[in-house]
Amino acid sequence: MNVDALIVGAGFSGAVIARLLAENTKQKIMVIDSRDHIGGNCYDYVNQYGIRISKYGAHLFHTTRQDVWNFISAFGSWEPWEHKVLAKIYPRDSSDNFAYAPVPICIQTIQKLYDSSVQNEEDMRRWLAEETRSIKFQTPYKNSMESAVARFGHRIYNDFFHSYTLKQWEKSPEELDASVLERIPLRYNKDDRYFTDPIQMLPSCGYTGVFKDLLNHPQIEVRLNTDYFQERHCFNSVNFTVFTGPIDGYFASRGLDRLEYRSLRFEEDTFEMGDKDTVMQPASVVNEPSMRVPYTRTVEFKQFLNQRSTHTTLVREYSASNGDPYYPVPNERNTKLYATYQQLAERETEAERRTVLFLGRLANYKYLNMDQAIGNALDHWQQWKKDGMIKTRVVN
Ligand code: FDA
Repeated sequence: MNVDALIVGAGFSGAVIARLLAENTKQKIMVIDSRDHIGGNCYDYVNQYGIRISKYGAHLFHTTRQDVWNFISAFGSWEPWEHKVLAKIYPRDSSDNFAYAPVPICIQTIQKLYDSSVQNEEDMRRWLAEETRSIKFQTPYKNSMESAVARFGHRIYNDFFHSYTLKQWEKSPEELDASVLERIPLRYNKDDRYFTDPIQMLPSCGYTGVFKDLLNHPQIEVRLNTDYFQERHCFNSVNFTVFTGPIDGYFASRGLDRLEYRSLRFEEDTFEMGDKDTVMQPASVVNEPSMRVPYTRTVEFKQFLNQRSTHTTLVREYSASNGDPYYPVPNERNTKLYATYQQLAERETEAERRTVLFLGRLANYKYLNMDQAIGNALDHWQQWKKDGMIKTRVVN
């Protein structure tokens, strides 16, 4: 195989490293992916009704890291987009009078569902203090039910978090570590945007357009439908490999247990709307915390960047225990098991007598937002250069 570097995986982690290698060394780089497309989980396409759909769930770019934005904004074209999410909240009786309320919980959420007199931060703090006054769990909280009820009170916990968590993790909050629901934001103001990062963007050419640009370089060759594990023997002579697939898959022959993931199943419906600007939902993403429906959220892709189409496509997301690996399951077993895999990964270069590096959300068994995946690749690139791992090809 006449290449200097092999990158396994054409998601952000792999594509960013491939681009950096191409621009900074004279190396010939091959990027392989087992799927039939580039972009990893950020891949999107335009459907027959002219609506751009993200195949693996809605992807909103947001970051606080200027260096990440400086790097990625050079590829594709981007437009500002501030994401908002509504939750569909059903009443506690069996009636159908649901209401839509903003998430994360902010002043408008309280006004809409519980108390219209809450107007400012002081009111909000007073209202929450009242709501949680009788709650006497001891700290540190034993589980996610306690940590959430202590912050939000029983009403918000039951309306927004209890059933949603059950659907998402197939575990009740009592069975999850306190940290899982502790991370949920709570706002004391009227900021009803889903993210507060200063940089919030969507690519007008889609993420696939961004990846096409990233990988469009004379030194980069992309091979799709190529599974590393099936073709490994072809790549044994390549001296520099970056692997961005699942770490437990890479070391499968060692006989260790596999890491657990949650997955998603998507169900899609398209409706004729007639008017090109008409949409079906009050927000691009509607969360479904209630047990009355089995899915966790519905995404109306037409709403992103205000796309125009005579139709609209709704995608419902169901949490699943089998399928593509999406979300690492944070528990003691998996943390310990991952540490064992990590030790194997650290020794792999020595064991193989060629450089083998592990990068990205699957190799690190960690949920990474897109900006974190890009930032992680940029940071590792700097470190690898410092450690003398990046060689420039000598061309005669
Ligand atoms: P990624 O999974 O994208 O790429 C890895 C690639 O390796 C895949 O293409 C895979 O096919 C390939 N591969 C694996 N094994 C292989 C093998 N044996 N041989 C060849 N190829 C192999 N982030 C954000 O910032 N905003 C958001 O709104 C969202 N939304 C979101 C929704 C959902 C449902 C999920 C699951 C995730 C998000 N994300 C997100 C996170 C985002 O998807 C994530 O940051 C990136 O996909 C990470 O890029 P990686 O390259 O690390 O992995």
